[in-house]
Amino acid sequence: MKEEKEQEKLFICKPCGYVMKESELEDICPACGLPKKVFEQYKERMSPGRSKILHLDLHPIAVHFPQTLLVFLLQALLINLIFPDFFPEVMLGAARFAGAIFPFTVVAAFISGLVDGKLRFKSVTTPILKKKIVYSIIMTIAAMFTPFLVWHNIDDLNSKLLLMLCGSIALFCGIVLGHAGKRLMNIGMGGAVKIWGRKF
Ligand code: HEM
Repeated sequence: MKEEKEQEKLFICKPCGYVMKESELEDICPACGLPKKVFEQYKERMSPGRSKILHLDLHPIAVHFPQTLLVFLLQALLINLIFPDFFPEVMLGAARFAGAIFPFTVVAAFISGLVDGKLRFKSVTTPILKKKIVYSIIMTIAAMFTPFLVWHNIDDLNSKLLLMLCGSIALFCGIVLGHAGKRLMNIGMGGAVKIWGRKF
């Protein structure tokens, strides 16, 4: 039964890249609405094992933690710099919390990215992945400073400004990494293939 399921044919909508199992094909493509005739048979080039791990979406999930903490850190610091009397303990407490765990989440995103890249492209030395590694290293270095800065003297203006600087560098790297990552999500598995098999 399991083998039968694994061997089920896949079909791809040529114009939009949506991939479905044969048994789920309908009169129109559920993604773009074009008629069934635009579908053609699709062959998954990836081994089932690699594909299974990739579909856990470990990297796309992991990247949300550093991005969220960073926005949290920068917002709290900015509010504290502009309105120093507005709940200073809360703002600086929030910045302290975010800054202390930020680097760990960056490292987790970095490692999961390397695993993801290796699984999807078999190598992490392609031009885009090399660029992602360089920006990840810069982001990791910037993130390493945040625990020290929040722990030592977050009340000091210089520490706050340095934190803003590290945070802004990390944010810039995060944006570049996100853009590159988004483009990688749409290749290698036929675009919307990531959601094949699930009903929406
Ligand atoms: C801290 C570092 C990193 C951040 C913040 C980051 C960020 C992102 C983001 C936002 C996406 C798109 C996810 C989505 O739209 O749901 C993505 C996808 C991706 N990233 Fe990264 N990335 C990082 C490091 C890396 C590294 C080091 C590599 C590999 C060398 C890598 C390889 C990929 C790949 C292959 C994808 C496509 C996702 C997939 O295959 O499931 N990333 N990344």
